[in-house]
Amino acid sequence: MECVILIGLPAAGKTSFYRERFAGTHDYVSKDLLRNTPRPGRRQEQLIAQSLSSGRSVVVDNTNASAAARAPLIALARAHGAEVAGYYFSTEASDALRRNRARQGRERVPDVAIFAIRKLLEPPSPAEGFDRLFTVRLDEQRRTFEVEPYSR
Ligand SMILES: Nc1ncnc2c1ncn2[C@@H]1O[C@H](COP(=O)(O)OP(=O)(O)OP(=O)(O)O)[C@@H](O)[C@H]1O
Ligand SMILES: [Mg+2]
Repeated sequence: MECVILIGLPAAGKTSFYRERFAGTHDYVSKDLLRNTPRPGRRQEQLIAQSLSSGRSVVVDNTNASAAARAPLIALARAHGAEVAGYYFSTEASDALRRNRARQGRERVPDVAIFAIRKLLEPPSPAEGFDRLFTVRLDEQRRTFEVEPYSR
């Protein structure tokens, strides 16, 4: 059983990566789905706890940009005896902006959100409590995600 934490800019490809790689095996939790919930952070933690208590692996699909944002997720996973895996999307802001501008409707975020998250973004470190860390690169030409062991 594992808790997967996705880390990356808006339009990095996190949700697509979930669908491609984890949809069949892992539950899905995202604050994007909790926009009308009074305390989304707390609700998200309840949902993660529910999955892990039932023995199901779960993916947390937010930008999860700062170590401070990741810390409670990692603590919760460990408290449930789950392993913690991090997937860091090493996306250039220019690529994120271009892909975001091509999106429609509520999928699309204001450009400033990408710059704001880029400023916040702290690459993950094993010292945060990750058991495994990977780097993910979206190859847009081949329409595939390349995953390799993470190194700074
Ligand atoms: N396999 C793929 N091949 C090519 N392009 C892709 C692929 N997956 C995603 N993209 C492009 O990246 C864009 C963003 O993908 P996605 O919605 O998964 O990002 P995200 O990280 O979940 O963004 P957000 O944080 O805003 O939810 C898509 O709109 C699409 O243009
Ligand atoms: Mg998404």
